[in-house]
Amino acid sequence: MSTTNLDPAVFDYLMRYGIREPRALARLREDTAQLPNASMQVAPEEGAFLGMLVQLIGAERVLEIGTFTGYSSTAMALALPPGGRLTCCDISEEFTARARQAWADVGVDERVELHIGPALETLGELEADGASYDMAFIDADKGNYLAYYEACMRLVRPGGLICIDNVLWSGRVADETNREESTVAIRQLNAAIATDERVDVVMLPIADGLTLARVR
Ligand SMILES: C[S@@+](CC[C@H](N)C(=O)[O-])C[C@H]1O[C@@H](n2cnc3c(N)ncnc32)[C@H](O)[C@@H]1O
Repeated sequence: MSTTNLDPAVFDYLMRYGIREPRALARLREDTAQLPNASMQVAPEEGAFLGMLVQLIGAERVLEIGTFTGYSSTAMALALPPGGRLTCCDISEEFTARARQAWADVGVDERVELHIGPALETLGELEADGASYDMAFIDADKGNYLAYYEACMRLVRPGGLICIDNVLWSGRVADETNREESTVAIRQLNAAIATDERVDVVMLPIADGLTLARVR
């Protein structure tokens, strides 16, 4: 759940001066807004930020866990250098049909490989194949967040980056009386990463909270 949490006037300002959203991504936002679970889409400023991270670290191999209708994947795929590859994991053919369309619309479909199925199984297969990534973006079911993080620790190279979405969960993580399953799972992952000596970490209050963990 990451559509922007900014005041509408500030959001308009940010969209005008802060990011350069390709027309196809603006259309994807409009289309996705018609879906009942539209709020699962990343905020546009977060998509732009993920693309900037791909460029900053010179990522050539990127892994995404949770693709939905394709906003974050399209933003990251557009930022890849020639020959770069994005591996996407999602459980839904229906949602990702829109993602496939978005990749084709902006001409990055050749760079993207989509795996449909439970992401933990896909990650196990990628690991068995000896896959290695420069960057990973975790944005799927929250109950598996810790398991996704551990899988990414095995799949992302030293010096690479693991990005985790929704780490503030609309502020619910800070309310210890909230024992809802996803809240507890995100809170557990946040606590684990905070003291994880295998990574350098910063949690950013962008969108619904984005943690950057750099693998040492
Ligand atoms: C928050 S949305 C991802 C949003 C996306 N990053 C974007 O830019 O719009 C979460 C996605 O995770 C997928 N998902 C849920 N459980 C999953 C699982 N066990 N394995 C793989 N994907 C899963 C859902 O189908 C959904 O598309």
